Amino acid sequence: MVSVVNERIEPIKKCMFLVAGYGTRFLPATKVMPKEMMPILDKPLVQYGVEEAYEAGLTEIAFVTGRRKRAIEDHFDTNMELEAHLKGDPREKSLDDLRELIAKCTFSYTRQSEIIGPGHAVKTGKILTSNEPFGVVLSDDLCFGTGKGVLAQMLDVYNEYRCCVIAVERVSSEDTDRYGIIDGSPIASNLFDVGRLVEKPSAEEAPSDMGIVGRYILTPDIFADLEKIEPGVGGEYQLTDALDRRAREGRVLALEFSGERFDCGSIEGFVQATNYCYERSMF
Ligand code: G1P
Repeated sequence: MVSVVNERIEPIKKCMFLVAGYGTRFLPATKVMPKEMMPILDKPLVQYGVEEAYEAGLTEIAFVTGRRKRAIEDHFDTNMELEAHLKGDPREKSLDDLRELIAKCTFSYTRQSEIIGPGHAVKTGKILTSNEPFGVVLSDDLCFGTGKGVLAQMLDVYNEYRCCVIAVERVSSEDTDRYGIIDGSPIASNLFDVGRLVEKPSAEEAPSDMGIVGRYILTPDIFADLEKIEPGVGGEYQLTDALDRRAREGRVLALEFSGERFDCGSIEGFVQATNYCYERSMF
């Protein structure tokens, strides 16, 4: 019998960012400005997410965007006038990290014309994935991994198991209705084989205290599941419902990552993230 050794794993390169949402919790700030462009200190939220993807080797950035979101495209592009203005000025350095992202990553965009849920957003982004496994980032969730970034931690799991991987953290019982919650059996101290997933259950209905954080590694078979789901919580097409099908038919793993995560979709989380970054910054 011949056993296969050194089977080649094509590295995942693509990362999808779902950025079409309205950001109503931050009105009036987000009336014109995309919520993903809200800064934590001097950097927009979405740039933190792209940096995390880049650190994990995900350099093909695919945005599922929408009307009124042009600022995101402009942010990840050269601003000739500004560059010329700052040439030779010490302040030029403040653009270094962004310039590196722009030089090393590619950025593609497709528009979600109706905002009818994250499941629909991922389905809309299919055109940008070339039928390869891909990462997904909800940039409202600002994550700082310990040692390495959260996506990089998830890719380690993917490279070993080659199935969908989602990031989870423990949430309090009064908060289960803000998250997708998993039912999983541990296969390692921080890794769970997911049996089912429920979107935003009440404390009584929640199968555990493990809440989904906005980081996913998805395999292309998720698109068949996305075709089959019906509108769920809030009348929207939920990615959690597609992952529930995937968990029942194939395999979904949940990683309790090491690090910190802030819900920057809420004022409280946004302020906490700002303080966290300020305490660790050079300002
Ligand atoms: C989305 C997902 C949910 C997940 C959450 C993480 O919900 O649907 O499963 O737990 O992100 O932030 P949203 O916050 O967009 O309502």
